[in-house]
Amino acid sequence: MHGPSLLLWGNVGTGKTHQAYSAIRALTAAGCGVSWHATTAADLYGDTRPQAGVDLEHQLRRIVRVPLLLLDDVGAAKTSAWNEEILFRLVNWRCQNQLPTIFTTNLAPVRELADSPRQPVLRDLVGDRVLSRLSGMCTPVRFTGPDRRFQR
Ligand SMILES: Nc1ncnc2c1ncn2[C@@H]1O[C@H](COP(=O)(O)OP(=O)(O)O)[C@@H](O)[C@H]1O
Ligand SMILES: [Mg+2]
Repeated sequence: MHGPSLLLWGNVGTGKTHQAYSAIRALTAAGCGVSWHATTAADLYGDTRPQAGVDLEHQLRRIVRVPLLLLDDVGAAKTSAWNEEILFRLVNWRCQNQLPTIFTTNLAPVRELADSPRQPVLRDLVGDRVLSRLSGMCTPVRFTGPDRRFQR
């Protein structure tokens, strides 16, 4: 299945994860029998860290090739050169093969002129190679408003 991807971005608690699952639910309810997988960037890095006896290539390939993937909280986990490479390979593969992917992040993709230079942005966390591919493949959707978790 080929298709467009989404980058849901905005502050913590604005409903990104909720909407990501709603989108998947809407697709499956509409009879689109696509197989899907949801994970967080932190879990992706955990599942693909070098470990004795684990076939990382197999593990990564399994996740990277899922027909519909939700990768939640990109840029939230502490990053390393290894993690950056894992994320690059995932994004590059899915971009090249036009595999529909929903990314969420608490960070703005890039720093706007009005932003403080200390304000972290996605570009700082994932690097230009990943950001460029995300920009090319995703429709960005900004989430605003208060943290819904504090509103109860
Ligand atoms: N449209 C919505 N209707 C009702 N509850 C929502 C809605 N969007 C989010 N929530 C609730 O608000 C909380 C924060 O939403 P979440 O999607 O986890 O935010 P984010 O992923 O942006 O941090 C969750 O408990 C979620 O169930
Ligand atoms: Mg979330």
